Amino acid sequence: MSYQNLSVQEENGILILTISREKALNALNGQTILELRQFFAEDAPNRDGIRSIIITGAGPKAFVAGADIKEFVGLDAENGRQLSQRGQDVFRMIETFPKPVLAAVNGFALGGGCELAMACHLRVASENARFGQPEVNLGIIPGYGGTQRLIQYVGKGKAMELLLTGDMLDAREAHTLGLVNHVVPAGELLDKAKSILQKIATKGPVAVAGVISSVNAYFQYNEDGFDHEVRAFGKTTGTEDFKEGATAFIEKRQANFTGK
Ligand code: CAA
Repeated sequence: MSYQNLSVQEENGILILTISREKALNALNGQTILELRQFFAEDAPNRDGIRSIIITGAGPKAFVAGADIKEFVGLDAENGRQLSQRGQDVFRMIETFPKPVLAAVNGFALGGGCELAMACHLRVASENARFGQPEVNLGIIPGYGGTQRLIQYVGKGKAMELLLTGDMLDAREAHTLGLVNHVVPAGELLDKAKSILQKIATKGPVAVAGVISSVNAYFQYNEDGFDHEVRAFGKTTGTEDFKEGATAFIEKRQANFTGK
């Protein structure tokens, strides 16, 4: 399978999936979301001998800096809801993938990037990694499951603060809060990721899949929260404030929100 924005490398039973839009800090445009769906629905499940997956970002600066804000021009309430649902569906595919998926977070993991890392089963971060849900700065909310999964990792109080302020966490803070499993120097990121996955590869695959599905089962009560997020995301993409927020980002200036 060939991809425009993903590169895939196979190494000792581990697939290393690199989101490769370095100039846009690996932002998830529509094409990349489509390719992630293809990868998890059709490509990875059909490769023999694969025991686990690493997701990382190209270049030294970003894992993924979010959904592609430049593609947001022209979004309204209806296609905002569709965009949110499409992303949520792909991230759910990752979360329920029966083999371990580990995010090797090599820099900014913001918005959809933080949501992508949270949909993975494990997260290892380099010391320069930064995590956050800055959507409020654009006049929108997270649309790829961030309002639901952030609570699962850091608890309601801290999740509420991070979602309302858009503040970023550095790698150490993310580790202290339980968002990240390990923090390592940038040069050791992939080695650490591989060593965790090699350890898991010595276990029984049926047991590994059973752990993943059972841990996920604990959180399935919360389907309504994800649906609510889709509707609330669509409501925000229907506002004047959202147009102002996205335009301000592109024009590299502070947004002026009016509540309309
Ligand atoms: N979408 C599109 N382009 C992006 C992007 C994004 N999310 N993030 C960065 N870029 C682009 C920038 O526009 C810039 O492109 P140009 O060179 O063409 O101007 C390039 O990547 C480099 O970025 P910066 O010059 O801004 O780099 P910086 O070092 O000054 O700042 C940053 C880095 C703090 C990550 C900053 O780029 C930033 O704040 N990015 C946006 C983060 C964000 O708001 N993410 C949430 C998106 S909305 C979302 O994800 C919704 C959802 O849940 C579905």
